[in-house]
Amino acid sequence: MAILVTGGAGYIGSVVVRDLIRDGHSPVVLDNLVYGHRESLPDGVPFFEGNVGDPELIGRIAAEHDIEACMHFSAYAYVGESVEQPQRYFHNNVIETLRLLDALIVNNIKKFVFSSTCATFGEPQYTPIDERHPQNPTNPYGWTKFMIERVLESYDKAYDLKFVALRYFNACGATDDCGEDHDPETHLIPLVLFAAQGRIPHVSIFGDDYPTPDGTAIRDYIHVSDLSNAHLLALDHLNSDKPSECINLGNGNGYSVMEVIEAARKVTGLPIEAKMAPRRAGDPSKLIGDASKAKSVLGWQPRIPELERIIESAWKWHKNNPSGYSN
Ligand SMILES: NC(=O)c1ccc[n+]([C@@H]2O[C@H](COP(=O)([O-])OP(=O)(O)OC[C@H]3O[C@@H](n4cnc5c(N)ncnc54)[C@H](O)[C@@H]3O)[C@@H](O)[C@H]2O)c1
Repeated sequence: MAILVTGGAGYIGSVVVRDLIRDGHSPVVLDNLVYGHRESLPDGVPFFEGNVGDPELIGRIAAEHDIEACMHFSAYAYVGESVEQPQRYFHNNVIETLRLLDALIVNNIKKFVFSSTCATFGEPQYTPIDERHPQNPTNPYGWTKFMIERVLESYDKAYDLKFVALRYFNACGATDDCGEDHDPETHLIPLVLFAAQGRIPHVSIFGDDYPTPDGTAIRDYIHVSDLSNAHLLALDHLNSDKPSECINLGNGNGYSVMEVIEAARKVTGLPIEAKMAPRRAGDPSKLIGDASKAKSVLGWQPRIPELERIIESAWKWHKNNPSGYSN
C-alpha cells in the first residue's frame, strides 16, 4: 500500500519520504514545488507536480497507486507573511486542504497525518505546553492550522476520517541526505550557520529584554529525524484502528537564541557575529512543548535531543551543500 505525501519535496516531508521507504512503505509525493526541491527526493519515488486542492489529480493518483493514507505537509509557513498576506494563507492552508480532504474521502482514503504547529497555542499561559493548554493563535498562519484541526475533528465524526494532528515545535537539524533549504530562510539554526559560512554578514537577535535568564527568547528545537519518526508511529497508530488524536511534538528542553548561537560557535569553531535587533511583534518569550502524550500514545521518544548534536547535523549538511539543493 502507498502513502500520499503532500509537500514531500519540502524540508520535513523529504526526510519522511526516505524513512517511509526504509520502513517498507511506498510513498507517492505530491508537491507544487513553490517552495520544495525536486532534488530532495530519492530516485524512483513517484512524483506528481501539482496542487493538493486539485481533486482530479488526487483521483488520478488514487487510481494509479493503492493509497492507504495521506501525510499532509504542504502549507505556507511564514508567520510574518501570513500577517501581511492572510488571503494567501487561508486559501492555501485552509481551502486547498479542504479540497484535498474531500477528494481523499471520495477516494475512500480515510487515514490522515497532519502537520500542525505550536503556533496554534498562541501566547503561552504556562510551559511546558501540553495538549490541554488553551489554543488562541496570534497570527493567521496559526489560525489556518487551528481551523484544519477543527475540520478534522468534524470529518472524523461525520465521515470516519481518522487523523493524527502533530503539533511541531521548532523543526531543525538534517540527515545525511536532506537539510533545511527554505527561500527565504527565517529559522534560527540555518541563519546562524549561514552567518558561520559568510552567506550573511551576521545573525540578528530579535529582542534581548525578554523575561528569560539571558534576555533572549527560548524555543524548543526538535530534530527533523525525530519528527519523521513520530509520523511513522502516527501511521502505525492509525493502522491499529486507534482513535484520532492531536499530539504535541517537542523536545521538552528550551534553548535561548544566545544559547543556540553559542552552541553553533562551539560546533563550527567559527566566530559567528550576532547583532541585537528589536523584538518581532507576536514573538512569545518562551515556547517549550510537553511531549508526554506523544510518549504515552505513540511510544515516541526524541533520539537526538541535544542541541549540539542537532546543530552538528545541520552544519554537516550546510557544509556539504553550501548553496542548498541548487548545488
Ligand atoms: N519547519 C517547522 O519548524 C515547522 C513547525 C511547525 C509546523 N510545520 C509545518 O510542517 C509542514 C512542513 O514544513 P516544512 O518546514 O517542511 O515546509 P516546506 O516549505 O519546506 O515544505 C512545504 C512543501 O509544501 C509544498 N506546497 C505548499 N503549498 C502547496 C500546495 N498547495 N500544493 C502542493 N504543494 C504545496 C511546498 O512546495 C513545499 O515543498 C508545514 O505544513 C508547516 O506548516 C513546520
